[in-house]
Amino acid sequence: MADNVLTQLSSSRLVPVVVLDDAADAHGLASALVDGGLPVAEVTFRTDAAADSIRVMADRGDLLVGAGTVITPAQVDQAVAAGARYLVSPGTSRAVVERAREHGIPVLPGAVTATEVQAALELGLDTVKFFPAGSSGGAAAIAALAAPFTGVRFVPTGGVGPANLHEYLALPSVAAVGGSWMVPRDRVRAGDVDGVRALVADAVALAARLRP
Ligand code: 3PG
Repeated sequence: MADNVLTQLSSSRLVPVVVLDDAADAHGLASALVDGGLPVAEVTFRTDAAADSIRVMADRGDLLVGAGTVITPAQVDQAVAAGARYLVSPGTSRAVVERAREHGIPVLPGAVTATEVQAALELGLDTVKFFPAGSSGGAAAIAALAAPFTGVRFVPTGGVGPANLHEYLALPSVAAVGGSWMVPRDRVRAGDVDGVRALVADAVALAARLRP
């Protein structure tokens, strides 16, 4: 992953995973993230609003916007055209990684086993999304994988929240942690910008307290 993007994700330590049902909600969500102190988003290609939402958020110029749930080369093209600065994939797909590389955009593929981590390494990547973290062995599994794969950094996502965040952030091999708890889909859809901003601020404060 390109150094500047990874540096920004590592310094925020949190990557909000967003599902937007309507691009009309994207601006308010972006404001909640920026004002809450976490100017980062992973906008997932789980809804038809993803590309337009990325465009709205990226055009503001005040937050690092990536695309998540990128599982096809066509989605890579859409994400890049919309202004995404990095891509996240739930698994490791050669086609997705190669298309990302053609665009010169960093990509974070999913990997939760030694074989998957090696596949990512073979594709020239050293940072992977550990997804779904909770049901794939959690922090203990990451610590075990980090023993042989000393240069690999993980971004655990899926089942992470305030109650177990500390387990992941305590690991030196964890670059950042992804999650949706600070950007609940229903509150974003309801236009509850103040409520989301408060959740974001709480998450930022918690991550700051847990900083090793
Ligand atoms: C993801 O796509 O990374 C996850 O769905 C986010 O998982 P969470 O909703 O459990 O945080």
